[in-house]
This record gives sequence, C-alpha cells and structure tokens, in this order.
Amino acid sequence: MARKIIAGNWKMNTNLKEGKELAKAVQVAVQKMEVTHLSIVLAPPYTHLTEVGKIIEKGKIALGAQNVSSYENGAYTGDVSATMLKSLGVEAVIIGHSERRAIFGETGAQIREKMQRVWESNCLPILCVGENLEQRKANEQDAVIKKQLDEGLEGFGESRLENLVIAYEPVWAIGTGETASPRQAQDMHHFIRNHLSNTYSATLAQEISILYGGSVKPANAHDLFSQPDVNGGLIGGAALKAEDFVELIKIGEKVLR
Ligand code: PGA
Repeated sequence: MARKIIAGNWKMNTNLKEGKELAKAVQVAVQKMEVTHLSIVLAPPYTHLTEVGKIIEKGKIALGAQNVSSYENGAYTGDVSATMLKSLGVEAVIIGHSERRAIFGETGAQIREKMQRVWESNCLPILCVGENLEQRKANEQDAVIKKQLDEGLEGFGESRLENLVIAYEPVWAIGTGETASPRQAQDMHHFIRNHLSNTYSATLAQEISILYGGSVKPANAHDLFSQPDVNGGLIGGAALKAEDFVELIKIGEKVLR
C-alpha cells in the first residue's frame, strides 16, 4: 500500500521568525492529534531548516527541502547538496517543481541527477510532474506527464523506486485558486500509476505514493483526497496558514486510505 502523505511547501515565504512561529503552531496542533497512518512533511526554505528541524524534532512531522543540487559537492557557488540536507535532518526533498522547471530552466537531465543525489543520501525524493494550461488545452497532458516521469526516472531500478513519491501538480492549478476537479486528478493519478505499472511492475506501482498539488485547501481536500489513486497532497499556499494546514492534516487522516 502506498504511504499517505501531507506535505507543506512553503516556497520562498516567511522570514526566520515567522517560519519558526508557523512550524511551532503546526507542531503543537499535530502533537495533540492522533495521527495513525499519515506522514506529515514540512518543507521550509533552506535558511530555516535547522530551526524548523529543532521545533519538529520530537514529533510526528518530518523535515523536507524544496530543492537540491544536482552535484555531489565542490565548486558550485550557491548550491546545496543532498548530503548537506541530510546532515540537517532532512528526510524528503521536492524535485522538479514546476517553478524550478519554468522559472529556473531545470531540465529533465538535471532532475534525474537530483533524484540520484537524493537517493544516494538516503532521503525520499518527491518528484513533481505537471502540464501547463496550453498543454492541457491541447489535450497533451498524458504525453507531457509520461515524458517528465521517464526523464526523471530513466535508468533507475525497482529497488530505488520503492523509495519514491510522485506529486502531480497541474501548473494551471498552482497558486491560481483553480483546482483540478477530483475527476481530473483521479484520471491523471490513474494514468501515472498505470504507466509505472507498465514500465516496472503492478506491485511497485501500488506502493508509490502519488500526491496531488495545486490550490488544495480545506474546502476541496475532502473530494480530492477521497479519490482512489490520490495518496495525499503537496500543499503550497494553504501550508502558510497553520490553521488551514492542520485542517488538511485532519482531513487527510480521515479520508486518505
Ligand atoms: P498551491 O501550491 O497549493 O499554492 O497551489 C502547490 C505547490 O506548488 O506545491
């Protein structure tokens, strides 16, 4: 069975003080909850990792990072390696977010390298895939997602993929308030699982968590999370409000099966 995950991606938001307050509010609320089958991840900016890590250390929340270098170490000014992240207690790393692809020009080959680095460091990669509005309008979404998956996973064996999370995030739904309908999300998640099943094996495909991301909020989470192939959410905007994020955790705990 695939892991059920609620992950918060803070993106480039909050200063350190605000970030610590947000992490504390989520930590305190989650400690009071009974979380039986949900993994919770917080991915603050790099600069907050140490402090947020201290806040969530003794609890049910895992530390995540939003990006990683495709290189191991050396003369790469400004980059942060997977081993550095690991040494701060990071357990999961978001890779190939659509903002990284579109704004920073990340290529499939770079994303594949990042996957390799994260696996080498014994962290969990969260590989993001998603089509943009133009591609959706042209009905090219399946081909786009297939290409992104194949590029990111090329050459890796099944033993690596046992430790993998995929996040389907339609670009047209990120930060726009526009959400994929539960049907659109389910169709794409099913397509992804089917593709993994054909490329690797049905057993492996069932084990891989596929998260939905794109304007998830308490008002729409119930319907999205109850789709059979949706194993959780990658949350942007709503992860910046402790109340909303905690509510999403509650909904996930109840609905994700
Ligand atoms: P959003 O972002 O929830 O603000 O749409 C999701 C994401 O980009 O991970």
